[in-house]
Amino acid sequence: MEAFKSILQKAGAFFTAILLALTSLSVGNNLLIKKNPDVRLTAALISDTHVGDAFYRKLSLPPGLRDISRRVKPDVLILAGDCTDNGNEANWQALQTLFKRNADGLPAILALGNHDCWTSYDDDARTYETAKENYLRYGGAIMGTTQTDIFFSREIGGYSFLVLGSEDETTDCVMTERQLTWLQETLAAAAAKADGKPIFVINHQPMNFTHAVGADAHSNGFRSQEMSERLQAILDQYPNIIYISGHQHYPLALSAEDTPDGFATVERVGKHIISVNLPCYGYGTFLEGGTSVFGEGLVLYVFDDHVQFKGRNFFLSNWSRTFDLSIPLE
Ligand SMILES: [Fe+2]
Repeated sequence: MEAFKSILQKAGAFFTAILLALTSLSVGNNLLIKKNPDVRLTAALISDTHVGDAFYRKLSLPPGLRDISRRVKPDVLILAGDCTDNGNEANWQALQTLFKRNADGLPAILALGNHDCWTSYDDDARTYETAKENYLRYGGAIMGTTQTDIFFSREIGGYSFLVLGSEDETTDCVMTERQLTWLQETLAAAAAKADGKPIFVINHQPMNFTHAVGADAHSNGFRSQEMSERLQAILDQYPNIIYISGHQHYPLALSAEDTPDGFATVERVGKHIISVNLPCYGYGTFLEGGTSVFGEGLVLYVFDDHVQFKGRNFFLSNWSRTFDLSIPLE
């Protein structure tokens, strides 16, 4: 049954790829994106590209990378983890080549996802340390930085970006004391000079009890509820924190009322956190809450007094007809 399902999924993905490739030839809208002069920062947000052996995932990325680098022209591209399908060297080399050919020189931030944390689908054969080395080496090369750890901060256009990641080869997120202490200190320093600007925190997994994640171990968020609560408490000390995750593979949904399980792509968490959960770029999902095709993500525009999230299919160079959300800054 599993094998049959897998064949069906692959066949579906193949025909979707052909259909989308054909459709993209006829899409001529929005080829030029006029920039609003009041925009202070533009970020393209994608997640879960899952570049690996499956050919359609390698096919889906180049048009999107070209759309981002040539039309959206953001100050930064954020890829919120599961950059590769299983974090081995061949996967990362393929991803690096795709970036080089289609978005060379584009400032990019890549977070470590659970699929980047292991090197094999066999649980016993997984090696976190090797996967981490691959991320530091190839992810660093794509970002144009020398990476020494999976959590780090960067400043782009006067805005702070703090990147977090799991320190275990499992599906759910595990952070050590070392990482949480680093976050506490780095966030305090970023907040001290933020001056009303948002601070971006990127981590592959959403926090528990957000974006339809449960609280139990292995329910797609953090392994421990206590760890998730500690992260939330650290972030919620400061205004205008934008937490960006992926992992769930849900379609873009403007409001939790739109979906049977209460999922929304952008949610308010705690007092201050704007939590963003991105769809899967690499392949379409078919869920009760809606269907997505691959290539979806968000464009984030930062203004002086608000942020705007616009849905975009980067593969098709198309704006979403419905997803356009503005949130005032504190
Ligand atoms: Fe994923």
